[in-house]
Amino acid sequence: MTQDSKKLWSGRFKEATASLLDKFNSSLTFDKRLYKEDITCSIAHANMLAKCKIISNEETEEIVRGLNKILTEIIEDEEGWFNTNKNEDIHSAIETRLINLIGEVGKKLHTGRSRNDQVINDVRFWLKTEIKEILSHLTILRTTFINLAREHYKTILPGYTHLQQAQPITLGHYCLSYEQKLLRDIGRFSQNLKSTNVLALGSGALAGTSYSIDREQVASELGFDRISENSIDAVSDRDFVAECLFNISLLSIHLSQWAEEMVLWNNDELRFIIIADAYATGSSMMPQKKNPDIPELIRGKAGRFLGNLVAMLTTLKGLPQAYNKDLQEDKELIFDSVDNIKIILQIANEFLQNVTFDRNRMYEVASNGFINATDVADYLTHKGVPFRIAHEVVGQIVAYCIERKRLFRDLSLSEWNSFHELFGDDIVERIRLESCVESKNVYGGTAPEEVVKALYRAEAKEI
Ligand code: ARG
Repeated sequence: MTQDSKKLWSGRFKEATASLLDKFNSSLTFDKRLYKEDITCSIAHANMLAKCKIISNEETEEIVRGLNKILTEIIEDEEGWFNTNKNEDIHSAIETRLINLIGEVGKKLHTGRSRNDQVINDVRFWLKTEIKEILSHLTILRTTFINLAREHYKTILPGYTHLQQAQPITLGHYCLSYEQKLLRDIGRFSQNLKSTNVLALGSGALAGTSYSIDREQVASELGFDRISENSIDAVSDRDFVAECLFNISLLSIHLSQWAEEMVLWNNDELRFIIIADAYATGSSMMPQKKNPDIPELIRGKAGRFLGNLVAMLTTLKGLPQAYNKDLQEDKELIFDSVDNIKIILQIANEFLQNVTFDRNRMYEVASNGFINATDVADYLTHKGVPFRIAHEVVGQIVAYCIERKRLFRDLSLSEWNSFHELFGDDIVERIRLESCVESKNVYGGTAPEEVVKALYRAEAKEI
């Protein structure tokens, strides 16, 4: 197939463009993936032109037939189609091919339209679907956290602050902490879907158009909720792209936190989890290794998402109205972030479904320190000792135990009483790990009964 490389805008130029300019200016290598969106939006535009009697029905039919033929050509041999194409972007590539295919009529398609409104309309049309996909993967991952929380509503896990043992918690409560973060992410992407779902076509290069077009008609054919309000804003607005890059960054930061925990929990010192063989990797040199590459990569990708967000915002900073070629930089950033977050969401979900939590090991690790020290202080406080005094007393007991390499459970009642006379036999039961978590029965707390209530709330959430 031969494709004409003559520029659509060559009229006022006497010389051909420099080949380095062509190389530098072109976005075809990365925006070619928008071919379906570009063709669909062009068909809607052509249909509207006929409806508004700007071109004839026959002309539109020919254009639509040509566009559908191009769609088939690309689907059948994408590589070949683009290899022979020297156009500067996907919009020019398709329009040029249309003119080659159907001749003069093809030259009418661009009536009342500019690449400036065309490109951002294509991106909006593409991103709408992508955000919906992200939302569906996110919902699945959130459900997996909920299911794990149900399974482990009373499994004891050492809870950390400053990465030091702090207080015992339930694994279910931990899982629901991520359910909450993901729920907020879902809310942000749902908002983002609204800001994306706006038709830009009809804005022209920046001023609108003098043809009596019907923008609402195009919006309804393409399933856009709204049409843009201001043509200058419409061709320059990339807020919805920046929002999406932010949402992806924050989501990936949440996932990087969880991933870090999975890496830690898999190490030989903690051994809280056992990763299924299908979701772990080995070392080419050390035969014993079972590496958590999946969570490491999830953690690592957060950096590039943040980079993409900062690159987009920096590109937008100080841009004069309206369209500027700088805006072409939006696409590689959003494509990269969307592609990567989609795979991350899917693999995080599979990883989580194929990991075993070693309850005994978590219990053992939680039992060999002073993770229940706050409960000892609470015990005294419930008996009327001011908390600050109770804290001081328990601090002394901890120091006493550390010096003698002993734990609370090794102390006799007389030893307890040597620190405070209000300690009774019941201290032993009160500071069992199960009692510690059961006592945290405040709304939103870690007690199994509260985790069950939180589970009901999570399951009832309409998303
Ligand atoms: N490839 C361009 C982009 O991605 C399309 C719009 C070009 N418009 C123009 N007037 N050169 O932004």
